Amino acid sequence: MITKKKELIVTSALPYANGPLHIGHLLEHIQTDIWVRSQRILGNHCIYLCASDAHGTPIMMKAEEENISPEKLVDKYMKAHKKTLESFQVSHDCYYQTHSEENKKYSELIYNTALENGYIKKQNIKQLYDEDKKLFLADRYVQGNCPKCNAPDQYGDNCDVCGAKYEATELINPLSIFSKKPPVIKDSEHLFFSLTKLEAEIKKWIDESSLQESVINKLQEWFKDGLMDWDISRDAPYFGFKIPGFEDKFFYVWLDAPIGYIGTLEKFLKDSNNKASAKDLWSEDSKYEIYHFIGKDILNFHALFWPALLHAAEFKKPSNVFVHGFLTLNGNKMSKSKGNFLLADQYSKELDSDYLRYYLASKLTNKIDDIDFDLKDFQKKVNTDLVGKFINIASRVQKFLKTNGNKLGSDLEENLIDEFKKEAKLIFQDYVNLDYSNACKRIMKLADSANQYIDHNQPWVLAKEEINEKEVIKISSTGMNLFRILNICLEPIIPETAFKIKNYLNLTEDNFEHITVSVKNHEIQSFKPLIERIEDDKIDNLIEASKSG
Ligand code: MSP
Ligand code: ZN
Repeated sequence: MITKKKELIVTSALPYANGPLHIGHLLEHIQTDIWVRSQRILGNHCIYLCASDAHGTPIMMKAEEENISPEKLVDKYMKAHKKTLESFQVSHDCYYQTHSEENKKYSELIYNTALENGYIKKQNIKQLYDEDKKLFLADRYVQGNCPKCNAPDQYGDNCDVCGAKYEATELINPLSIFSKKPPVIKDSEHLFFSLTKLEAEIKKWIDESSLQESVINKLQEWFKDGLMDWDISRDAPYFGFKIPGFEDKFFYVWLDAPIGYIGTLEKFLKDSNNKASAKDLWSEDSKYEIYHFIGKDILNFHALFWPALLHAAEFKKPSNVFVHGFLTLNGNKMSKSKGNFLLADQYSKELDSDYLRYYLASKLTNKIDDIDFDLKDFQKKVNTDLVGKFINIASRVQKFLKTNGNKLGSDLEENLIDEFKKEAKLIFQDYVNLDYSNACKRIMKLADSANQYIDHNQPWVLAKEEINEKEVIKISSTGMNLFRILNICLEPIIPETAFKIKNYLNLTEDNFEHITVSVKNHEIQSFKPLIERIEDDKIDNLIEASKSG
C-alpha cells in the first residue's frame, strides 16, 4: 500500500530577541525538531520555521539600556539564537525575525482583511501614563497596592499575594517603575479585534483539531469565564509596525508575532526560488498541514486569538497546536536572581547536544506537565542508556568481527531481527504522537534484549575454539544488525551520533525505509569510540554555571 506523503509546515514559538536562549527554550526546539526529523524520516515533507520575535516595549527598553537601536539589538540576538539552535542540531529550513518586510506585508494584509470583514472596532480606553518618560505604561511597568487585599508592590494585571485580577487603573497608589512617580490616567483610542464574534468558529476549530486533553480542559475554562475582545493596538513610542491609516499607533507585538510564522515562510520560499507565496501555502484550501509547538504560557494566543484572526483574514487555521510544560532546573523554577539558571551556550561549553536531546526526549510525553532537568539524573540516564545499553551492543561484538576483516556474515538470527523491525514502526508512531518517553523506553528495552542475546550466546567463550568461528560471526553480525536498527530509531533524538554510527557502519544513506532489509556480507569500519560517558567534572561545571546565572 502506498500512503500519500504529507506536506507539513511546522513551527516552534518565536523567542524574544532581548536575550540569549536558555535551556527552557531548548526543550521546545528539541521537542519540535525530533518531531520534524521523524516526519522526514517517514517520508513526509516538512517545512520547519522559526524566527526571533522583535517587537514590543521590553525590546525597546532593552535597546535603550544598551544604547543601540532596537533593529541592531534584534539583529544581534537573532544571529545568536540562530547559531545556538544550529549547535543543538535544530533543523530549521528558515530562521528569521519578525521585524521584516515580509512580516509587515502579511500583518497589514491580515489586519486589512479582518477590518474589511468587520472584525476590527475602535474603543476609548483609560490607561496609565508616565509623563516624565512620555510612555503609556504596560501592566508590568506599574506597581502599587492590590485593590483587593492591599498587598504592596503588585503589578498592574494581577496580585501575587491573593491572585486577584484587575485593571492597572484600579491599583492603589500606583507608581511608574521608570520615574517612580504616580502616573496619570489618560484617554486613548485603541483598536480591538472582535474575538467575541468568533466564539463559534473557535469552538468549531477546537472540535475539529485533535488538541491534547489538558489543552482542551484549559480552553473550556476560558470559555466558561467568557471571551473578551482583544486590544491589538499600542500607542507610540513603541517598537513595531505602524497600523495602516494611523500616525501614532502600532500593532501590539502579539498581533504580528504569530503572523511572523507566515512572514518566515515567505522568506523561505523566496530564498529557495519557489514561485509560490506564503499565502498560497496558508490559504484556506491549502493541502499543507500546519503545526505549532508552544509552551503552556502562550496557549491563549495560539488557540484562541490565532485561529480567530486567521478565520477573520481568510487564512488556513492550524491543524494542531502542540503544547509542552516548563523546564525546571534541579527541581526548581529557573531564575537568574535565585542562581538557578542555565543558558544554552553554557551547556554547549561542556557537553555535546545529543546528551541533552536524549535526556529531554526520555522525559517528554504529550502531557503538559513541567519537566525537570536534574543534572545528576541526566548524567546517570545518559551513561546507563546510551553508553551502557546502546553503544555497548556494538562495542561487545565488534571485536569478534576483526578476524573476518570487519565484515558482517550472511547467516543471521532473523527472528530476533524481525522483532526489532516490527518494534521500530511503533517507535516512530510514538514520535508522531509526541510520546518520546515511550519511544525511549521501547528502544532501551530492545537494547536490553540485544545485550541478553549476546550474554546468552557468550561469543567470548565460543571464540576460544576455531570450530565455532561461523557461530561467533553469526552472533556478532546479528548484534550489529540490531545495533543498526536501534540507531535508525534513535536518529530523530541523537542525529549527530546517529550519523557518526552510520559512518562507522559504512551505511551513510541508511534510513527507515531500508530497515526491512538486513545487512549481510558487508564490511564496516574499525571500531572507534562513538559516545563517551559523561564524567563528574562536566556535571560539576554545569552546576557551577547554573549558579552564576
Ligand atoms: N515571543 C513569544 C512567542 C511568540 S510565538 C508567535 C514568547 N517568547 S519567549 O521567548 O518568552 O518564549 C518562547 C517559547 O519558549 C515559548 O513557547 C515558551 O513557552 C517557551 N519557554 C520559555 N521558558 C521555558 C521554560 N523554562 N521551559 C519550557 N519552555 C519555555 O513567548
Ligand atoms: Zn491581592
